[in-house]
Amino acid sequence: MTNPANQSLQPPTLPSRQALPRRIYLDNAATTPVSEAALTAMLPYFQESFGNPSAIYSYGLEANQALSASRRLVASCLGAMSSEIFFTSGGTESDNWAIHSVVGRSDLKGRHIITSAIEHNAVLKPLAKLAERGFEITLLPPDRAGRIAVAALERARRPDTILVSIMLANNVVGTVQDIPALARAAHEVNAVFHVDAVQAAGYLPIDVRALGVDLLSISGHKFHGPKGVGALYARIPRLPEPLLNGGGQERGGRSGTENVPGVVGLATALAEAVAGLPKTAALTALRDQLIEGVLRIPGAFLTGDPVNRLPGLASFVFTGLKSSVHLINRLNERGVCASSGSACSVASQEASQVLMAMGFSEELARCSLRLSLSRRNTAEEVETVVALLPELIADIRAKIH
Ligand SMILES: Cc1ncc(COP(=O)(O)O)c(C=O)c1O
Repeated sequence: MTNPANQSLQPPTLPSRQALPRRIYLDNAATTPVSEAALTAMLPYFQESFGNPSAIYSYGLEANQALSASRRLVASCLGAMSSEIFFTSGGTESDNWAIHSVVGRSDLKGRHIITSAIEHNAVLKPLAKLAERGFEITLLPPDRAGRIAVAALERARRPDTILVSIMLANNVVGTVQDIPALARAAHEVNAVFHVDAVQAAGYLPIDVRALGVDLLSISGHKFHGPKGVGALYARIPRLPEPLLNGGGQERGGRSGTENVPGVVGLATALAEAVAGLPKTAALTALRDQLIEGVLRIPGAFLTGDPVNRLPGLASFVFTGLKSSVHLINRLNERGVCASSGSACSVASQEASQVLMAMGFSEELARCSLRLSLSRRNTAEEVETVVALLPELIADIRAKIH
């Protein structure tokens, strides 16, 4: 008889893929494969140089040097100083920490916070918790293209506004916000400005000084770095109030033994992505090829800003589908990985809150498709998907009616 307890000692293994056709991965806004350069840079820090960066013997010093070099690299990619970069476990922690660091400040007495209705849950959920504690949260509505108007922020801001948090680029529709103008409007009432740049980092040039922001979140796995590692930029002279307390790592800001291989992978991947930014036109051209092809399908509409959008993100709604789940499943059967824009809403077949906030009907907001490209995708892959979609959509519509 097998002991069920023994089964849990088996390490995870990959299921056989023989039955699947060649896959076309168009869900890079969900996550990306780790780049060769990032993987190569990470490997020595798992076994050869595995030391705890706080140790004072050679293993520890090597690990510590890797952390410092990574911090310098990330800082230079973002136009920041090394002392302004703090490593975290990803975008969710960076967003939570950014919010917590402002709310925890004893010098800020106000209890009013402004954000947008289309933020990621990593911002909206911690703010909802704060609302339970008596903070007042104002959600700015986007326009039909997902833009947050500076005038709306100017109307909402108050002398007791302590924090404004608005994302640089939206994860569902890719709309890019005018962060410098929004940050200026926040600073006019002395509010701290946080930007969630998780979708933008590695795809758009980021200079924290030019953006004029106080706090900025990034996450490694969105730009070909590893999962479970991110960074928070926090403008000096103020260090962010800690969220995690313990051994005092990250200059007391974030306790816990550092994820050295992860940090090295994040820094390497970010530097690689930033070095490739001058070639973004190629990615934009692929995206536009995709948009043009999909919009030839009757009842297909582009969502998000047609111009100011992420270079790799194409997002649509389709009439007459009832839900995008069937379409995403059918694409998967044909080897194409795509999503509706938010992992949670696909699973529960819920309408996209982002699209509803942008004024789409619940019916259309259930039928969204996000195709997100990376530098690894090819024109051939785009052509294949553009050729496949009309057939799948017509078939699903025919079965519904
Ligand atoms: C805009 C945005 N913010 C935050 C996150 C959370 O990042 P992580 O998965 O690293 O926790 C995501 C991830 O999808 C995102 O798209």
